[in-house]
This record gives sequence, C-alpha cells and structure tokens, in this order.
Amino acid sequence: MVASSTTAPVAAQSATGRMAAVQEMARLQRLLFEVEREFVRTATTLIYRVGEPELKYLLSQHVWESAGHARFIRERGRELSGFGAGESVRPEIRRLFTEAVMPADGYVALAGFYRVLKPALLAGYRHYLAATHHLADWPSRRLVEEFITDEERHAAEMTPYLNGIDATASTDHLRTALAALGGMLGEHPPTPLPGGFSWESANRPYTHPATCNRGKYPTCSSVFSHDPEETPIVRPWLTDPKTDARVVRLMVYVWLMMEMDAVDYLATVFFDTPEAPFDLHHDMARHLWDESRHSQFGYRQLPKLGVDLMSLEHSLDLYNILVQMPPHERYAMMTMEFEAGSFPTKAHVMDRVRELNDFEADTLLAFDRNDEQNHVRYGHRWLPEIMALCGDTRPVEDFVKATQARFAEMATLHGGRTPHALPPERRLTGNKILKLAGVA
Ligand SMILES: [Fe+2]
Ligand SMILES: [Fe+2]
Repeated sequence: MVASSTTAPVAAQSATGRMAAVQEMARLQRLLFEVEREFVRTATTLIYRVGEPELKYLLSQHVWESAGHARFIRERGRELSGFGAGESVRPEIRRLFTEAVMPADGYVALAGFYRVLKPALLAGYRHYLAATHHLADWPSRRLVEEFITDEERHAAEMTPYLNGIDATASTDHLRTALAALGGMLGEHPPTPLPGGFSWESANRPYTHPATCNRGKYPTCSSVFSHDPEETPIVRPWLTDPKTDARVVRLMVYVWLMMEMDAVDYLATVFFDTPEAPFDLHHDMARHLWDESRHSQFGYRQLPKLGVDLMSLEHSLDLYNILVQMPPHERYAMMTMEFEAGSFPTKAHVMDRVRELNDFEADTLLAFDRNDEQNHVRYGHRWLPEIMALCGDTRPVEDFVKATQARFAEMATLHGGRTPHALPPERRLTGNKILKLAGVA
C-alpha cells in the first residue's frame, strides 16, 4: 500500500495528539499575534488623517501598547508547540485590516477600527481566557487578563472621539468581512460573504493623503526662520548667548510641540512596509509614541506660559515633502538627518534652560534627549533592513547622502506651499515670544 502524502506517519500523529491541547492554544495565540501586529501596521494610517492633537497622541499610545501585546504573545507563543515559525500575517487577516484602512474619511476609518475590529479583538481575548485551562496555561492567562484590561481601557479612551461619527455603511461592510472569518479567532461559525460583496482594497490601492490633518489649528510651511516677525522659532536666537533663557524655553517648547510632524510622517512608514520583521514595527511604534510624548511636552507646557495654541501655526512642510518620497527615504531623513543633526543645538538649549531652575523643563528636555539617542540607534539598526525591504542595495552611507540631496530637491517642489493661515498680528512669532517672556 502506498502511504498518502497527506497522512503523517503514525508516530508523528500520536505526538501531535498528545500535544493537541497545547497546539490549540498556540494556534489561537498565533492569531492574536497576527491581529495585534496588523493593527499596528494599519491603525497608524489614522494618525495623520485625524485632526485633534489629543487623538493623534492617543492613537500613538494605543499602537505602542498593541506592539507590546504582540511582542509578549510572540514570546509566550514561542514557548508552545505549534505557534509556528516566522512572523508573517495570513492573507485573510491582512485583507480585513487593509479593508479597514480604505475609507476616504479618516474618521469613518477610525470608527471601523474602534467599533468593529478592536471589539472583535477584545472578544478574541475573552474567548481565549474562557477556552484555556486556568492552571495548565497560567503564564498565557496572566498576559491575556492584562491585555483585556488594556483593551477595555482603549475602548473607554476612544469613546469621546467616536461620538457623532456616522459610519454605518462602512462598519457594516467590515462586520460582514469579519463574520466571514467567524470572528478574529474563528471562534464563531463563519457567515459566507453575500453575493455582490466587493473588497475596496482589491479595487484600488490605499494612498497617504498629500497633506496631514491638523483640525481646527492654523497651519504654515515651517515654524523656523531667521525673521522674528514671521515665525516663533528664530534660528540664530536658539544659540545666541544673549538670548534670554525664558525666550529659549518658549522656543524649544514650540519646537517640541511641532514634533507632531514626526508623529504624522513616521506613521506613514508602517503601512508601506508590510513584510517588515515584527521587531522593526515594534521599535517604530516605540519611536512614534516617543515623538507623540515629545509633542505633548510642548502642547501641555505652552499654555501654562501664556501661549494661546490657536495663535500657533502648525508646520506641514516635513510631512508634505516626505510623503512624496519612498518609506526608506522618509526613515533615513528622520533618523540620520533630522534626529542625528539635532543634538548640538538641543545641548546648548538645555544648558540655557537650566539657568531658569525650572525642574520640569529640565526633566522634559533630558528625557527628550535620551529618547532621541535611542531613535538614532534605531536608525542604525533598522535603516539597512528598510532599504532591503524597498529593494535598495546601495551602501548605507551612499544612500543617506543621495537621500539628503533628493530631499533638498523635493523640498523645492513640495515645500513652502502652505501659506501662513494667520496674519502676522494674530500669529505667534519671535517678537511675540519676547513679549510673553517679559523681555520686550
Ligand atoms: Fe522627538
Ligand atoms: Fe526622535
């Protein structure tokens, strides 16, 4: 008799049978890992499409926590027989999350993620907890209990932002797609897709918008210039020893708040690198969350120092230019140029701010510096990998040099296109900062 090629030898079958309970839980963990990492890849597309700073910050935090969930599940899953090698996401999970990205309106997409996909993930965690053995699988159970608490908090934190979004057609569409999988873990009997169901993501590719959304806030091309009548940050003032330290402090808080542009353009890189090793997305999620914290340093401190945030224009140039470049070039400019190049000026600024005995300012700047050192390290670690994903085989050094030149070229095409939204008298400028600091 010829053994069927699909039938495992008897010894292997028996080993599989003995480990069936472990393998079933490992299978569910593998699905949870893929869902969490796919959330990180796709929910990041919401960040630059929504306008409220607080919502961008919250999404960055949820993405970072989700990356943490994925990493812990991967560590635990690898202890179990049956988790599987590799880190790739199966096509049906990828298609579901890609579909969630498709709505042209970022708020409709937000509703899809938080009214359909995140609740389904929470249901998946609850299913896991109910299905597993409390003592035998105790190490997983502890993780899952903690993640359920996180997911419940994410839902509560997002609720105020979902009020009033009309997205019924889009969320029904996603629910139908989800039901065809039988839920995130296939824990329900699947409902076949109705005839005429059409995948948006199969009809057209998703593209990042040419500019990022800053909601009700006034916008401009850049907050940096040499003209105290034009922008809040006057470059030579940052390093001029005659500048009053209170002026330096206000300018650096504006600088930090405008790291929102880093939040917006870094958020574009995840979706564009679907085959990235998970650790790359994990570290980029950390990077993203760090930048959102740095932006919050400014966003929360400036009003305390008398700045009306509606008088502070948001700079759009970096997003507008970088989104025209491929993902590895965006990442190279960020880590190898903007971040690596910021240390000398920031060091000088920190020395000046210390004159003020402002403990909180010193603390925020010290953590910013520490984070930025990590970001440059991430750059050295991951740039070659992103280059490889994008098929770029040049030596890193040559690539960075060429990218700097290309950025300068793209800046002449796509930079400087956002006029000041506010007339000079209503806009925060260097001269207004002198007044707020009590110097002029
Ligand atoms: Fe930063
Ligand atoms: Fe950074």
